[in-house]
Amino acid sequence: MYGNHDTTSVPVEAPAADDPTFDRDFMALIDDDGRVEPRDAMPDAYRRGLVRQIAQHAHSEIIGMQPEGSWIGRAPSLKRKAILMAKVQDEAGHGLYLYAAAETLGVDRADLLDRLHTGRQKYSSIFNYPTPTWADIGAIGWLVDGAAITNQVPITKCSYGPYARAMVRICKEESFHQRQGFEILHTLSHGSPQQHAMAQDAVDRWWWPSLMMFGPPDDDSPNSARSMRWGIKRFSNDELRQRFVDMTAPQSHALGLSLPDPELAFDALTGHWRYGEIDFTELFEVIKGNGPLNAQRMAHRTDAHERGDWVREAALGYAAKHARTEAVA
Ligand SMILES: [Fe+2]
Ligand SMILES: [Fe+2]
Repeated sequence: MYGNHDTTSVPVEAPAADDPTFDRDFMALIDDDGRVEPRDAMPDAYRRGLVRQIAQHAHSEIIGMQPEGSWIGRAPSLKRKAILMAKVQDEAGHGLYLYAAAETLGVDRADLLDRLHTGRQKYSSIFNYPTPTWADIGAIGWLVDGAAITNQVPITKCSYGPYARAMVRICKEESFHQRQGFEILHTLSHGSPQQHAMAQDAVDRWWWPSLMMFGPPDDDSPNSARSMRWGIKRFSNDELRQRFVDMTAPQSHALGLSLPDPELAFDALTGHWRYGEIDFTELFEVIKGNGPLNAQRMAHRTDAHERGDWVREAALGYAAKHARTEAVA
């Protein structure tokens, strides 16, 4: 049923998608900040847009395990290793919640993975950059997870119930990720001169790609207006990017590290940080598949998928056996 997922609210009868009043009633629900639930009728374009967005988000979570996963065996202490393992495992969990949320829209998880593996669906370009030093793990947590939180907190209020609810838990875990990244960088920044230089180098490399995580500028973002009209997206790319810069710039001072933008300055009139122009040609190259590690990430993913075949087979066999036992009992 439609509603705010609040048991005290009065259920609204969902009109059928071929009812002439359907679009008007659907938009009235959205305007009323109601939630759309899996069994509700919804415009086909709304469903398809959500599948695309949730799948891309899920793919990003699992591909995002790779740049950091490669550091689990090389983390500088047992404590760091345990923290990093927990973080990478969280990302697998985020993928799981999101594939499950996408499945409530009538798609099959195996099909979504197939679309990823054959290049028909994308993942976030940020994960095509390399992680050559331990400081990259700090920079990813601080900047990449920080940008992810900024993007994702508004999705906890999005119009599609299962996506919004999945995002509540994800955001709590992302804030732990951001803190652990900040703490790694803080330790390095206040360590030896070499450690400080390593932290600064990682921040220099990750800053601009992190800003690009918010997508193209608003004037250049064709899907944004429709997503906002449907209550899937709550703020524009540029608004979210500004929010991220406002949060991060003061934190860089606390870290004792600089951000690689000579134009970055606090504007007392607007209360916001101004930043320099972003060179999006690089982002578009990475999206086209020409980033530093696109091919390697996909090869690793498809290989892991093939090698995991026996696990999926065993899980399905176990579930079938369990269903038979339950039917007998
Ligand atoms: Fe995540
Ligand atoms: Fe994360």
